[in-house]
Amino acid sequence: MRVLITGGAGFVGSHIADVLTERGHEVRLLDLLIDTAHGGDRPPAWVQGYDTVLGDVRSDEVLDSVLSDVDVVCHQAAVVGHGLDPSDAPRYTGHNDHGTAVLLAAMYRAGVQRLVLASSMVVYGEGRYSCPEHGVTPPAPRPPDAIAAGRFEPPCPRCGADLESLLVPEDAPLDPRSVYAASKVAQEHLASAWARQTGGDVWALRYHNVYGPRMPRDTPYAGVASLFRSRLERGEEPVVLEDGGQRRDFVHVRDVALANALAVERPTAGLTPVNVCSGEPHTVGELAAELSRAMAGPQPRISGGARPGDVRHVVADPARARELLGFDAAVSFADGVTAFATDPLRSSAGLG
Ligand SMILES: NC(=O)c1ccc[n+]([C@@H]2O[C@H](COP(=O)([O-])OP(=O)(O)OC[C@H]3O[C@@H](n4cnc5c(N)ncnc54)[C@H](O)[C@@H]3O)[C@@H](O)[C@H]2O)c1
Ligand SMILES: [Zn+2]
Repeated sequence: MRVLITGGAGFVGSHIADVLTERGHEVRLLDLLIDTAHGGDRPPAWVQGYDTVLGDVRSDEVLDSVLSDVDVVCHQAAVVGHGLDPSDAPRYTGHNDHGTAVLLAAMYRAGVQRLVLASSMVVYGEGRYSCPEHGVTPPAPRPPDAIAAGRFEPPCPRCGADLESLLVPEDAPLDPRSVYAASKVAQEHLASAWARQTGGDVWALRYHNVYGPRMPRDTPYAGVASLFRSRLERGEEPVVLEDGGQRRDFVHVRDVALANALAVERPTAGLTPVNVCSGEPHTVGELAAELSRAMAGPQPRISGGARPGDVRHVVADPARARELLGFDAAVSFADGVTAFATDPLRSSAGLG
């Protein structure tokens, strides 16, 4: 198949280009090389050799020129980050949401019916929890005095008991907690409306914590693995917030690319959201310890405290991806993190 990868020069997009090519597809990359991701106007070395168009996903002219002979669009282009500064909101919604709207309209003009959308676990907000007495419940906010006293588990809103963390299924309520997260939810909603209007189909792949080669250095976005590595490279210990017991699903970027390829290869109906995760949850403390071991560095330091808005546990249910896409992550935590000790990373301007 002929696939347009938007954001194809980025971390995930460039691996999708590799995996699709290995599987016999033809790819074209579209990327604006935004300065916060690249800090330069030349594409990174790993996309050399690919048909790469430098341009903006918000431009009709650019899209009309790149979409004419395309079967599927794999839409990765986005501004990533936490979006904590309110003045950044127009930038997030401009690239992510207006960009998606312009892309969908251009796909309609060009008769392209299939979309694979990079969504995110951030659409869920906090993970899924259950109270021993009250069952599945959204947690109450964590009171600052509890966090200061080292009690990090979110309480039941009805009885105050510590909640148990469960796997998040795709039909969990959406609860975006940052401008970035809101922009990812809006992308899904725009794509869903487009699928209804056009009869097109969309896989919304909700990636969990992606790590691996070409990850930007020191990115503040889900970049805990690269932050730990940067500290270890300086001979410093990784610093772990809270008590290190926050559970996440760290999924290797090659596996995320494989999930994209499987989605490219099979149509769905309407918009289908799918968690893309390893199915092997680990704590942030375990990630730090594993990376320290792999880099023969000092043991992590637990700092306590939590940033406002930090979620405690988000771990995904991998069942739907297995059932609908035949996707099973191939890279284990131990292998992926060991390799990450020496994987090439991308310098970026960072989001400050
Ligand atoms: N990395 C993660 O952990 C993670 C997790 C969940 C979801 N995602 C999603 O995956 C996708 C890829 O993220 P990534 O980690 O590879 O980020 P990245 O910054 O490495 O790649 C994004 C690419 O999009 C390009 N881009 C941004 N705006 C553009 C525009 N208007 N026109 C054309 N290109 C534009 C950038 O130049 C960059 O190369 C994003 O949609 C992101 O929201 C990433
Ligand atoms: Zn309860």
